[in-house]
Amino acid sequence: MAKGRSGVVGKPERRVTVFGAGYIGLVTGACLAELGHRVVVRDIDPGKVDLLRSGDIPIYEPGLGDMIARNKERLTFTLDLQEALDGAEVAYVCVDTPPSASGDADLSRVWSVITSLEGAPHLRAVVVKSTVPVGTGTRVRAALDAAGLGHVGYASNPEFTAEGTAVRDFMRPDRIVVGTSDEGTARLVADLHEGVDGPVVVMDVRSAEMVKLASNALLATKISFINEIATLCENTGADVEEVARAVGLDHRLGRHFLRPGIGWGGSCFPKDSEALRQLASNTGLHLQLLSAVIEVNNLQKRRAIQKLKEELGTLAGARVALLGLTFKPGTDDMREAPSTVLAARLLAEGAEVRCWDPMARPAETEPWTSTSRHATPELAVEGADAAIVVTEWPQLKEVDWAKAASVMRRPVLFDGRNLLDPAGMRSAGWTYMSVGRP
Ligand SMILES: NC(=O)c1ccc[n+]([C@@H]2O[C@H](COP(=O)([O-])OP(=O)(O)OC[C@H]3O[C@@H](n4cnc5c(N)ncnc54)[C@H](O)[C@@H]3O)[C@@H](O)[C@H]2O)c1
Repeated sequence: MAKGRSGVVGKPERRVTVFGAGYIGLVTGACLAELGHRVVVRDIDPGKVDLLRSGDIPIYEPGLGDMIARNKERLTFTLDLQEALDGAEVAYVCVDTPPSASGDADLSRVWSVITSLEGAPHLRAVVVKSTVPVGTGTRVRAALDAAGLGHVGYASNPEFTAEGTAVRDFMRPDRIVVGTSDEGTARLVADLHEGVDGPVVVMDVRSAEMVKLASNALLATKISFINEIATLCENTGADVEEVARAVGLDHRLGRHFLRPGIGWGGSCFPKDSEALRQLASNTGLHLQLLSAVIEVNNLQKRRAIQKLKEELGTLAGARVALLGLTFKPGTDDMREAPSTVLAARLLAEGAEVRCWDPMARPAETEPWTSTSRHATPELAVEGADAAIVVTEWPQLKEVDWAKAASVMRRPVLFDGRNLLDPAGMRSAGWTYMSVGRP
């Protein structure tokens, strides 16, 4: 038996090239290095590569920096394509697949990687982690064959990690989905994950591609469902937190993703649900349920603004503080964050927007020209007419809310994440509103 990773007798270490040093590529590269493989991460952004080479990381993801530092012998970063391909046995595609004008995923970055692989003489498999429409693998397979890479295996290996817990999710996944048409590639990808605590589920390529889109759509559905029930709770006097707790105790339903709030956002749910909807549209099918799920989510953010408007009379000239900007806590990711919709709506109503967030990168908030960013939640609410809890950062639990109320022009708070205790907030002097709670 070969002497493999970390000197342990077992599967041999592989030489892996990861394309894309973003949220998924960096976590994949770092975790594969942690598992004992030699990994080169290639990106086309010189700023990112420079930062990584100097020992810094361009994103915030808990545990990632330590893991990269721990594996620096086996994990390198490059801009150079040939350096990335030299000796590569497995090419992981982790580039972004943003929405195109039609709502379908834009695969241009995936194709730019695929068409660059000819110069990799040792390549045994191409593994696509980027989220792609069903059918992409078939086209990639044909392109590889046409480029004389018929001997190179192909696998779809969709990623289910969540930002904020991505390192843990990679090492202890609920499942590792491998979609491929050949057994050798399935074994190769499964072996790469040796040491990961989770079952490997092998299937055909199209089904694997669909698993990713269907999973995200179902998670989004659960959130939109409980958000719609929350609105009904408001109209009928029920408490959605009690309802969600008891509904979630049913083992057939589960408690996860039944948290009411201001709506889902982020780099995956909005993009992937729209991509799934368009994938269906392209076959002449209207996904009615998913369309409603998206619509409920869009409405949820606008309802928050409407509630403030009703409370304040008008938003014109009002000063509103957004508490939290990232799409969820534990990340610096602002892509499709509900805060961006709220800020745009508030500005359109003539309000002045102030904000606080411990992680959002300053460049991401620049487009909100009249927005001022503050170092603490207390400073952000000073002199404001209303505040909105947008992201459930734990720091917000530590705020002295009675003191914060005393520095507001009008102490009105819409808790978009049901983070705070309604009775406590009211006794601290707040006009307090939340989602689906009496
Ligand atoms: N972020 C998540 O939580 C998450 C979860 C599951 C799946 N995904 C999917 O994974 C993919 C990557 O997402 P992400 O959030 O990491 O994106 P990202 O934007 O953070 O990173 C993508 C990186 O790819 C680089 N890139 C673009 N073209 C390249 C090329 N030709 N060669 C090398 N690098 C190139 C970009 O410069 C960027 O650094 C997407 O398809 C996304 O839908 C993301």
